[in-house]
Amino acid sequence: VKPSPWLLGKLRCPLGGGALRAADGALVAEATGRRWGFTPEGVPDLLVPSPDAESRRVEDANERFHDSHAEVYDRETVRPDDAYEGVSRTLARLVAEHGAAREFLDAGCGSGVVLRRVKPLVANVAGVDLSRGMLARCLPLHADLVRATATRLPFGDASFDGVSGYSLLHHLREPVEALREFHRVLRPGGFLWTDNDSNAAFHRRFGWWLEIRRAAKTKRARTAEDAELERLAEFHHGTGLDAESLRADLLAAGFSRAEVVHAHPPKPDEFTKLLIQLERHEPSPSLRYYFQLIAWK
Ligand SMILES: C[S@@+](CC[C@H](N)C(=O)[O-])C[C@H]1O[C@@H](n2cnc3c(N)ncnc32)[C@H](O)[C@@H]1O
Repeated sequence: VKPSPWLLGKLRCPLGGGALRAADGALVAEATGRRWGFTPEGVPDLLVPSPDAESRRVEDANERFHDSHAEVYDRETVRPDDAYEGVSRTLARLVAEHGAAREFLDAGCGSGVVLRRVKPLVANVAGVDLSRGMLARCLPLHADLVRATATRLPFGDASFDGVSGYSLLHHLREPVEALREFHRVLRPGGFLWTDNDSNAAFHRRFGWWLEIRRAAKTKRARTAEDAELERLAEFHHGTGLDAESLRADLLAAGFSRAEVVHAHPPKPDEFTKLLIQLERHEPSPSLRYYFQLIAWK
């Protein structure tokens, strides 16, 4: 098992930060001699669990939830290809605005929705996820993968020109920890783009609608244990995230510019179409379900 020379050159020991070298089927931290292994599928395994017990519980739930959904994820959750035109457009715009983006990180890469769209735009891209099942789904598409948490990235400071997190932040108990990591691994002038997290203002106003929709969409009978696992893994799904306070977190982390873009789902249902009409009379972020964060270091 061998990570590509590019990936190996990028990886750092997540406990101590030093370079790693491949030796005897392991990755060895040059400074400390600490050994790191690979998943059974051959992906470098550099996961360091959160030191906080509650955050660890959420990480564990994410691992189990996404491992068990990996087989059906593309069929049940990933939307048809043309629904991601906005993803490709946004990535292309950010890469063009950067002007010299070569190395990119996709955090919470799942089965590769963003990876496959960013690959044609940059020279190298690494994908990170904590679910072995999701990483295994990604492997046929892309080899530069690492098992790690977005809140402790196994990369040195100033390693990437761009970082993305698509549908990731609401899975983290403390999203700000990931935002700080994204800032750390970005080079000066680099950009961060997060997307597809739901907006707390929308939840406060239309939580009643979301509950009806969620109940109607439930696809299979689930045990109480499954439901609890999903509740923990989709940690902020029930309330949404406060985009403006995340924007303040980005600036506090050191980003020089940060903006929130409030967005409707790419394929609006009938209810969303009504909201789009309502917005003409009453422009308000609380009418838009999703938000993106775009920040520059
Ligand atoms: C809803 S999926 C999105 C996957 C992909 N970005 C997409 O848009 O299809 C969320 C992903 O985040 C991963 N994830 C959850 N918590 C994570 C963490 N702390 N660090 C890294 N990945 C995490 C999950 O395993 C899952 O693959």
